[in-house]
Amino acid sequence: MNKSSEYPGLYKLPVADRVKFVKEFAGLTDEEIKPLLTPGALNLDLANRMIENVVGVMPIPLGIATNFLINGKDRLVPMAIEEPSVVAAASNAARMTRPTGGFHTNSTEPVMIGQIQIVNAPDPYSARFEILAQKEKILTHANKQDPVLLSLNGGARELQVRIIETEMGKMVIAELLVDCRDAMGANAVNTMVEAVAPIVEELSGGRVYLRIISNLAEKRLARAKATFSKEMLGGEDVVTGIVNAYAFAASDPFRCATHNKGIMNGVTAVVLATGNDTRAIEAGAHAYAARFGHYTSLSTWEKTPSGDLVGTLEMPMAVGIVGGATASNPIAKLAVKILGVKTARELGEIICATGLAQNLAALRALSAEGIQRGHMGLHARNIAISVGATGELIDKISAQMVTERKIRVDRAKELLDQYSKS
Ligand code: MEV
Repeated sequence: MNKSSEYPGLYKLPVADRVKFVKEFAGLTDEEIKPLLTPGALNLDLANRMIENVVGVMPIPLGIATNFLINGKDRLVPMAIEEPSVVAAASNAARMTRPTGGFHTNSTEPVMIGQIQIVNAPDPYSARFEILAQKEKILTHANKQDPVLLSLNGGARELQVRIIETEMGKMVIAELLVDCRDAMGANAVNTMVEAVAPIVEELSGGRVYLRIISNLAEKRLARAKATFSKEMLGGEDVVTGIVNAYAFAASDPFRCATHNKGIMNGVTAVVLATGNDTRAIEAGAHAYAARFGHYTSLSTWEKTPSGDLVGTLEMPMAVGIVGGATASNPIAKLAVKILGVKTARELGEIICATGLAQNLAALRALSAEGIQRGHMGLHARNIAISVGATGELIDKISAQMVTERKIRVDRAKELLDQYSKS
C-alpha cells in the first residue's frame, strides 16, 4: 500500500512523535530508529576510521520533508542542513504539486567519465586513432579491475578520445565511460583509469600524467518535472513572477549563482543525509550549468497555455547507495532506508525532485512577499537559542522578537533576563 507522505501538523509534534511517524511510514524497527534518537550516533571510533586526525564529529540537524509524491509513490525525504526554512519550503512546494500529479522523474544510466591526460604525443590525431583502434583491449583490461561491478552488469562501456588545446600545447584526453550501477563510482573509475594508463601511454607515444574521474558527470543525469496550478500558487501573477525570475537567472550569472544555490539547498541536503559526496555533486552541478560556455540556470520554468506553471530540472547526479559513508554512517544508512530506494538512480531522481521543489519555493517567495518574513521566525529561534534560552523560553522569546520586529541578540538577552526572573 502507498502510505501518504502528507502530515500537515508534523512540525508541531515533539521530536519523538515525528520519529514515530517516520518509523511507521518506512516500516523501521526499534533497533533501526536508534541512531535517530541517539545524539552522536556516529561514534568517535567510527569517525576515526573515516578520516584522519579526528577530534570530534560535527552534528547537523536532520529534518524530514513531507508531501513528496514522485512517479505516483509517496516518499519522506531526509534532509541534513543547518539553514532554517529549507525543509519547510521543500515540503510546502511538494504539497502544492500533489493535486497536479506530483513530481515526474527519469534518469540516464549511471555512467561516469574517467580521464587520462596524455601530453607530448608527437602526433596527437594519430595517437587518438591508435588508442581507439585498441578499444576492446583497453575496455577488457579496465573491466578486469572490478569483477564485482561486472557481475552487477556495470563496468567500462566505452572509450572516447579528445584532443584539446592548452597553454602547454595539444593534449590527448582518453576517457573511459564506466557504468557504476549503485556506487558513486570514484574508486572503481580511478582504479580503472590508473590500470589502463600504461597501455594508452604506449599507444600514444606521449606521457601520461593525470588519471582521475571527472565530476562533470554529464552522462549520469537525473531529471525532474512538476506542474503547479496557478490557483495553488496564488494566481497567474505569481506564475508570471516566477517565469520572470527564471528568465533573470537564465540571463544573468550574478542572479543565477543564487538561483542555483537555492536548488542546491534541496539537493545538497539529501546528498549529505545519505552520506554522499556533496562536493562532487556541487562541482558537477555548476560545471553542467556552464556547459554552453556561459553560466545558466539548472532548472527551467514556463507558463502552460492554461496559465499554470511547469518546471524542470536536469543535473549530473553522481550518488550511490553502496560503499563510502553511505555504508558506514548509521544515519546515512537509515536515510536511504527511509527513502525506500533500491537503486542509486532512484535516489538521484528523488534528490533532483527535491532540488526542483526548493527552487519553486524560493522563486515563489521571492517574486511575491520576499523570503524574510518566512525566515524570521526561525532566525529568531536561533538567536534565542544562541543567548541561552531553553525549552518553552525559546518559543516565547522568538515570538516576542518577531512581533516587535526586533530580532536581535541584545533584545533576546533582555527578554531572557526578564523571563528568567519572572
Ligand atoms: C537562500 O538560501 C536561497 C535563495 O537565495 C535562493 C534564491 O534566491 O533563489 C532564497
